[in-house]
Amino acid sequence: MSAGAEHASRGDAMNSWHDGTRVVHAGLLPKAQGTPYLPGPTFAAPYHASGDPADSAFTYGRFHNPTWQRYEAALEALEGGPSVLFPSGMAASAAVLATVLRPGDTLVMPSESYYTTRLIATDYFAAHGVNVVMAPTANNAQRELLKGAKLLWLESPTNPELDVCDIALLCAAAHQAGALVAVDNTTATALGQRPLALGADFAVMSDTKAMTGHADVVLGHVAARDVAWAETIRTYRTRMGSIPGPMEVWMAHRSLGTLAVRLERQCASAQIIATMLASHGKVQRVRYPGLVSDASHATAAKQMTLFGPVIGFELADRASVERFFATSQLVFEATSFGGIHTSAERRARWGADAVGEGYVRLSIGLEDVRDLLNDFAVALAAV
Ligand SMILES: Cc1ncc(COP(=O)(O)O)c(C=O)c1O
Repeated sequence: MSAGAEHASRGDAMNSWHDGTRVVHAGLLPKAQGTPYLPGPTFAAPYHASGDPADSAFTYGRFHNPTWQRYEAALEALEGGPSVLFPSGMAASAAVLATVLRPGDTLVMPSESYYTTRLIATDYFAAHGVNVVMAPTANNAQRELLKGAKLLWLESPTNPELDVCDIALLCAAAHQAGALVAVDNTTATALGQRPLALGADFAVMSDTKAMTGHADVVLGHVAARDVAWAETIRTYRTRMGSIPGPMEVWMAHRSLGTLAVRLERQCASAQIIATMLASHGKVQRVRYPGLVSDASHATAAKQMTLFGPVIGFELADRASVERFFATSQLVFEATSFGGIHTSAERRARWGADAVGEGYVRLSIGLEDVRDLLNDFAVALAAV
C-alpha cells in the first residue's frame, strides 16, 4: 500500500475508533519503513522555495509548518472540524472574536466566564464599537439576549464557578436568532465534551490545561464546524502573525497520546475527592458537575462524557484557605488546572471573579487518590 493510500485508510479507520485509540494515533505519519511515528519539530523560518510559490508545500514559517499540520490533523479527529492552532488559549479566543465581530455587532457572553475573555471583550471589542452584553451561565440566561446578536459566546463548565449551560439548547436558539456560537471548552477538554457535535460553530480551547497536561506548554486552538470559517481564522493567524512555536506544538502532540488515560484517572479521582469534600464538616459548599447533588449535574450529564478534573469548594474564609495550603504536602498553589500535578488557588486573590474569599478552585492530578485523600484529611483538619 502506498503511504498516501495507507494514510487515507487509517483516516477512515480513525472515525470508527474510540477516543482512547484516537488520541494515540491521531496525526501520526503514515506507516513507512524507517520513519518515526511522530517526527520531531520542524524549525524553519524560510523553506527552499524557488519560482512559483504554489510549487512549494512550505514557503515561510508564519504561513505554515508541518509540525502544526500534524497536531491540527489530530485535533480535527477529536473535535470533528478543522482546527487552527494559536500560541495561547487567549490568542485562539481573540481570533474568533476578531474574525466574527465588526463595529455595531452584538456579542452575548457569560457574565462569569474566564475573566480575561471578559476583559478583551470589554477593553478591546467594546472599545471598537461592539455591543457586549453579559448574562449568567446558570439557567441558560443568555437565551433572553439573543435577538439581533452576531455571536453567542459560551463557556461550560465556567472557570472558576463550574456553572453549566445547555449547549445544544442555546445553539439552537442562537441559530434561530441568526447568531453564531463559540464555546470555550477548556475546562471540559475535547474528550469530555464536543461543542461542534452539540451545534456550536466554534470550539475554543486553551491547550495549556488538560489537553497538554504537563504544566510546561502555553497553547490554544479553534475548531470550526465550517471549513470556510476555519480558513478565515487561518488567514487571520497568518496575517496577524499569531503563530505557535513548533516546539510547543510538538510537545502538545506528544502529550496527546496520554490524554485519555490522564483524564480518566483525573476525573475518577476528582469524583472521589468531590464526594469527600461534600460531606466534610469544614467545607461550606462544593461545585463539581459530576456530583448528583450539584445544580449543574443534570445538564452536564446530558452533554459531557467526562466531568473534568476541576472542583470548586468553599472554606470559611481566606485564613482557612491559607492554612489549608500551608499544611498540604501535595496541593501546589498555582493558577492553572488540568495538569498531572494536583493544584489549587484561592480564586478571590485576583479580585476578578464574584466568588467568596474562601472559594478554592482545585484541579486533581495523577497522584494516587489514597494519598490525596490522606493529604486533604490532614490539611482540612488544620483549618
Ligand atoms: C476557561 C479558560 N479559557 C481560556 C483561557 C486562556 O488560556 P491561555 O492561558 O492558554 O491563554 C483560560 C486560562 O486559564 C481558561 O481558564
